[in-house]
Amino acid sequence: MTKISGFSKLSKLDKINWVCDNYLSENSNAKDIITQYLNDDKKLQKLHDEFAENTISNYYLPFGVAPNFCIDGEMFCIPMVIEESSVVAAASKAAKFWLDKGGFKTKVLNTTKVGQVHFKFSGDFNKLKTLFDEQKSKFFEDASSITKNMEKRGGGILDIQLVDKTELLSSYYQLHCTFETVDAMGANFINSCLEQFGKTLEDIYQPEFDVEVILCILSNYVPECLVRAEVSCPLHLLGKTEKEALNFAQRFKYAIDIANVEPYRAVTHNKGIMNGIDAVVLATGNDFRAIEACAHAYASKEGRYKSLTHASIVDDVFRFWIDVPIAVGTVGGLTSLHPLVKVALQMLNNPNAKDLMKIIAVAGLAQNFAAVNSLVTTGIQKGHMKMHLLNILNQFEATPEEKEQAIEYFKTHTATHSEAVDFITRIRK
Ligand code: MEV
Repeated sequence: MTKISGFSKLSKLDKINWVCDNYLSENSNAKDIITQYLNDDKKLQKLHDEFAENTISNYYLPFGVAPNFCIDGEMFCIPMVIEESSVVAAASKAAKFWLDKGGFKTKVLNTTKVGQVHFKFSGDFNKLKTLFDEQKSKFFEDASSITKNMEKRGGGILDIQLVDKTELLSSYYQLHCTFETVDAMGANFINSCLEQFGKTLEDIYQPEFDVEVILCILSNYVPECLVRAEVSCPLHLLGKTEKEALNFAQRFKYAIDIANVEPYRAVTHNKGIMNGIDAVVLATGNDFRAIEACAHAYASKEGRYKSLTHASIVDDVFRFWIDVPIAVGTVGGLTSLHPLVKVALQMLNNPNAKDLMKIIAVAGLAQNFAAVNSLVTTGIQKGHMKMHLLNILNQFEATPEEKEQAIEYFKTHTATHSEAVDFITRIRK
């Protein structure tokens, strides 16, 4: 075991040297690669270094754009940061498909965020409750220096509820708190309020009540920070003939129904949705882990993991929609620091948090439409392998001429990994 103290205090070069000396083989070119990814612009590099700790390099992901999105009558070109080939192409294809059919319609259903103070108490709940009701306003008063600015922006604490959870865990109670954080993701605001609530709680009840605060933290489960995105069109627009259109719509809806009843399928189905959602969340400097965790919990809200999207065919109208909780911010955090995030937000016409929720939900719905469309018709491998072919060719450092030859060849041949490898080996002989 290689133990080191004070690693964080070393210069970047010393950190790189230490990692290379201790964890990378002597004859590897790791150090060259690590340093190759550093930016020559010292100011920009410093900015990135300071986003996190112990940074030794930068890790690039492709920043792509999906044009032709019509959302509530407005045109958007959506920035997407994702490494998986064919995601951006699929989003663009879905955008174009729906463009002449009325585009995407959206609605923010609510924006409530959540945080909790978890505490232990072993006495009489009625006494706890009575005092809580009497003193509830103190929680708001004690947090007023924290909430002042948020209130000016139209947000603040919405409510604080005392909840008895002792049926699930002995002595376990909580303050379940709701917040409006307007255009901020609001994590720091919520956590500061909650820590103050924890202090107020102990102030009110100590010493005779013996209340013990265990932890105060926001919840990333925000089922009420909800947005809906949808597309719909007369059935006949979905195919060249009425029969083809009906067949497609029915197969599509059946695929959604499968994801509703079969968790093995639902997870992959929702993963496809998250391909779109995460890519926009990342491009716009938001926390994709929080969005992911919340989306999957929401997908299980009825006790079984289900599809986040829904489809219906009623009176010859096909409708496809998503209801998804999305807690994002367009001010604060990375949104005002990362130059590419700023560009992404500019590209989206500097949306407020509600508008960004809508755009992200649309990206998820579009992605799911494209995936299920392929799955119930041609299968996904055709499109996937077309994009993946380029990755394979790059692995083999194919020249532009070799790439052209390969693309031409695989227009009429099924692209598999081994076929692509065979092809490149063959033409090099
Ligand atoms: C691949 O990243 C995503 C899909 O598997 C989604 C799906 O199956 O619906 C294509």
